[in-house]
Amino acid sequence: KRRIGVLTSGGDAPGMNGAVRAVVRMAIHSDCEAYAIFEGYEGLVNGGNMIRQVHWEDVRGWQSRGGTLIGSARCMSFRERAGRLRAAKNMVLRGIDALVVCGGDGSLTGADVFRAEWPGLLAELVAEGELSQEQVEPYQVLNIVGLVGSIDNDMSGTDATIGCYSSLTRICDAVDDVFDTAFSHQRGFVIEVMGRHCGWLALMSAISTGADWLFIPEMPPKDGWEDEMCSVITKNRKERGKRRTIVIVAEGAQDRQLNKISSNTIKDILTQRLGLDTRTTVLGHTQRGGAACAYDRWLSTLQGVEAVRAVLEMSPQSPVPVITIRENKIMRTPLMDAVQATKDVTAKIHAKDFDGAMKERDAEFKE
Ligand code: F6P
Repeated sequence: KRRIGVLTSGGDAPGMNGAVRAVVRMAIHSDCEAYAIFEGYEGLVNGGNMIRQVHWEDVRGWQSRGGTLIGSARCMSFRERAGRLRAAKNMVLRGIDALVVCGGDGSLTGADVFRAEWPGLLAELVAEGELSQEQVEPYQVLNIVGLVGSIDNDMSGTDATIGCYSSLTRICDAVDDVFDTAFSHQRGFVIEVMGRHCGWLALMSAISTGADWLFIPEMPPKDGWEDEMCSVITKNRKERGKRRTIVIVAEGAQDRQLNKISSNTIKDILTQRLGLDTRTTVLGHTQRGGAACAYDRWLSTLQGVEAVRAVLEMSPQSPVPVITIRENKIMRTPLMDAVQATKDVTAKIHAKDFDGAMKERDAEFKE
């Protein structure tokens, strides 16, 4: 039987467990054996009982569990060729020649490098006497498929990453809770949300909660933004009778390269210019934890199933695919195209070419 490994890498995201469950069960359904690799690439490098066969019932109920139950780690040794050599040896010894990796763009890029190097790694293992030619013979091709697991929704080529809607839901719930205090005391709140370089969580949560003002990296404040923000907030409070003020700030909007804002500078402006009793709330890792929402449960399930199909159908020449969703269709997209497009958008944002970044984002992956 073919053996398919699955691992989660990078920051945990709700829905990763659903993805692992789907990969395990689809592998078994397809008459393969499923192996969980614990602690991300670290498990692959270290081997031992960090690589374990998983059965149908082992993943029961995993769709609703938060975090990643097979662990995740930022593995430095896998970034070195020596670490990837050990990983290749561990895989061959267990007869695993197919991997599904669920993680962000960095983790998936590592998978692409590993696949490209695979024949060379095997040859080196044989040359060094670590493995025999007979041992490596059946495993000449490594099939890898990526799943994008990240709360940030920061990968080009897919409408949603596994975890982003759970995180968005948690942010909205938290902002609603803060509303109660803001309303009761007629206060202002500056709420900082995650997202790394991407403003998706901040933008969507601001729309969903009816926030008064928003800062995202894709659209840094223009000259005079302080006056504009204060005038909108004053209008909302004085003319429209709003008792509470909410400003949402994406963590990436505070990037010093882009502009000089921070949650505290915004808070000081509201306090000093408007005399508004204002607090700063950093939502932090509550945004990443907790059970997956329904969207992430079905997305991770459908994508996990598709990942196994892709692993079994891949030809040795085909590029590593990442499983995406576009216009509600689960698709396979060349991984490095998606990673490159993501890098291009981020580079344009850092170069302050915001129109270019938007065009890039819209232009990519049009059928
Ligand atoms: O990528 C997910 C994410 O939560 C980002 O939104 C955030 O910038 C980062 O990870 C935080 O990483 P860590 O948990 O390592 O502090």
